[in-house]
Amino acid sequence: MINICIIGSGYVGLVTGTCFAEVGHNVICVDNNEEKIKKLREGGVPIYEPGLEVLIKKNVAAGRLSFTSRIEEGVDASEIIFIAVPTPPQNDGNVDLRFIEGVAREIAGVMKSYKIIVDKSTVPVKTGEKVAETISRYNKAKVDFDVVSNPEFLREGSAIPDLMNPDRIVIGVSSARPVSLLKKVYDPFNAPIMVTDINSAELIKHAANSFLALKISYANALSQICEAAGANIEEVANGMGADKRIGRAFLNAGIGYGGSCFPKDLSAFIHISEQLGYDFSLLKEVERINRSQKDRFIKKVRETLWILQDKTIGVLGLSFKPNTDDIRLSPAIEIIKQLQNEGAKVKVHDPKAMEKSKQELENVIFCETPYEVANGAEALLILTEWDEYRTLDLEKIKLSLNHPIIIDGRNIFDPVKLTELGFIYKSIGR
Ligand code: UGA
Repeated sequence: MINICIIGSGYVGLVTGTCFAEVGHNVICVDNNEEKIKKLREGGVPIYEPGLEVLIKKNVAAGRLSFTSRIEEGVDASEIIFIAVPTPPQNDGNVDLRFIEGVAREIAGVMKSYKIIVDKSTVPVKTGEKVAETISRYNKAKVDFDVVSNPEFLREGSAIPDLMNPDRIVIGVSSARPVSLLKKVYDPFNAPIMVTDINSAELIKHAANSFLALKISYANALSQICEAAGANIEEVANGMGADKRIGRAFLNAGIGYGGSCFPKDLSAFIHISEQLGYDFSLLKEVERINRSQKDRFIKKVRETLWILQDKTIGVLGLSFKPNTDDIRLSPAIEIIKQLQNEGAKVKVHDPKAMEKSKQELENVIFCETPYEVANGAEALLILTEWDEYRTLDLEKIKLSLNHPIIIDGRNIFDPVKLTELGFIYKSIGR
């Protein structure tokens, strides 16, 4: 059992802290947002992530997980301090590292004995060096410390299983001293541990996310060719993905990737590469293809319905992917705004993301069920592949719609079946 402090109780911090507690460590989660800490202390959970609430309650009750807004309290009680604060993009595409710097200074100011300071946030290569420099400068007591890079690879919506069964743990260090304690932290997770230098660990994260985004854009580019050639992207992806060197994951064509990671990390990685003297034009093309998927989708809607002005369009799905209420850079939201720009009236449903969308979307009708969305709409668009949409009563949907038209941005239905049911059905790349 190790005493761990996690600074930043956002997505990564909260889920990581909870899973560390679940495997038996003592965890204090810190956040400077007092309201968030109050909510967590009262048993509330500020984000929706399957299984998280139950796990938090269990570990709080077991006395292994607690919350505070005071960094000093967390640092004093812990041998290892994880930094999991946001690293948002700046307007120019660079990463804003002010929260990382601020936390490094705060830790330095309260540190009274040797600490291992681990960066879990996604940061540009060479950030660890800067963090170490900052801590040395602001650490008046001159106590020993080590800075470690330990990127996180969890996905929203499957964060807990991802964290509990990771493919690998990457630990970037500049000396051997912190390695054994970090190995103890991760021992219960039964995953291969890879020890690297700090710069390599930091690069692994940006390189991995960019490669996954590249896979998605590759599938999306292929989907255009499939449409032009009368082939089926699913079959092509299955055939390609069966090659172990390629793998089937992240070859699903659709309306493009969104969320708080891929778009931000790609643009950051392009900037970092530029600063290091390399023009990563391959990744610029990945971004371009991603943007074009939304335009292609709107074009399909236009081709099917012609003029959108005053037409009522039903939309299923708002979150950037299923099993989350996160709508940050969700392609669904962007597509809805574009439909509205063209004069359409939009009705929407999402199992979890409606509350958050109310702050982002204006003049949209939020419906309790998918059937209510379909009722009186000229067409139904699928923008997020929630499981509950896969099992819709399509006869009922057909009766509710003004015309039996489904335009599926996530390829959740079988085109043959939908055509047999009498739908005009369009999807991506097939
Ligand atoms: C992503 C990575 O998958 C995680 O490994 C990483 O830790 C995380 O970013 C991060 O940097 O924090 P996440 O953004 O939560 O995770 O979600 P993904 O499951 O990767 O999906 C991202 C986007 O790609 C979604 O909009 C999804 O719809 C889209 N996608 C995914 C596709 O369009 N096609 C696919 O085949 C797969």
